[in-house]
Amino acid sequence: ISVSVFAKGDVIYVGTNAEFAPFEYLEKNNIVGFDIDLLNAISKETGLEFKIQDMAFDGLLPALQTKKVDMVIAGMTATPEREKAVAFSKPYFKAKQVVITKGEDKSLKSFKDLSGKKVGVMLGFTGDTVVSEIKGVKVERFNAAYAAILALSQNKIDAVVLDSEPAKNYTANNKQFVIANIPAEEEDYAIAFRKNDKELINKVNAALDKIKANGEYDKILKKYFK
Ligand code: ARG
Repeated sequence: ISVSVFAKGDVIYVGTNAEFAPFEYLEKNNIVGFDIDLLNAISKETGLEFKIQDMAFDGLLPALQTKKVDMVIAGMTATPEREKAVAFSKPYFKAKQVVITKGEDKSLKSFKDLSGKKVGVMLGFTGDTVVSEIKGVKVERFNAAYAAILALSQNKIDAVVLDSEPAKNYTANNKQFVIANIPAEEEDYAIAFRKNDKELINKVNAALDKIKANGEYDKILKKYFK
């Protein structure tokens, strides 16, 4: 077992997938967003220096385990399945899955009603798991949400399942899309670590506590969710 030792001033590589506004996205070639601001606040508290690496979402946990990165912040849901392989920080955001359709689909009362429909999901996202468990769904997997939304606008698929806040980002600027607000399980976003890096996890958790207590977290919330 090898444990990485991280101390003040050390550079820590953090993996993300910058296709998930408002949590992480590209603005003039810079990675910005809620998660990045949170990371900066954690850096201020801990003295740790973070360097962000952008990669495919389904490559993030493998990169963590092969030590290409030391942490992952990506609007990632702490699921029991992922917890078998990695450790998560305290939760920092509550989310849920929603269904996006082109125009209102009144037949949608629950996720089960997606049965028989062509549904776009993003490879490896929790939406992929949720939709794949519904019997009779034709699952279409995309590498990025914008590609799924494009397919929806071209009537190639009937619906897209995506996390609520990124979904709002796509629908807010486009009247043709509707979010079906059907009951969904709550998900907790958290930062992922290698299980052995207990010291780093403790430092980040302590920083999260502090940021939540001193108003820094609320400032970041207000900036992205008005
Ligand atoms: N919350 C979902 C999950 O954990 C989607 C996260 C996607 N994040 C991203 N940065 N692309 O699977």
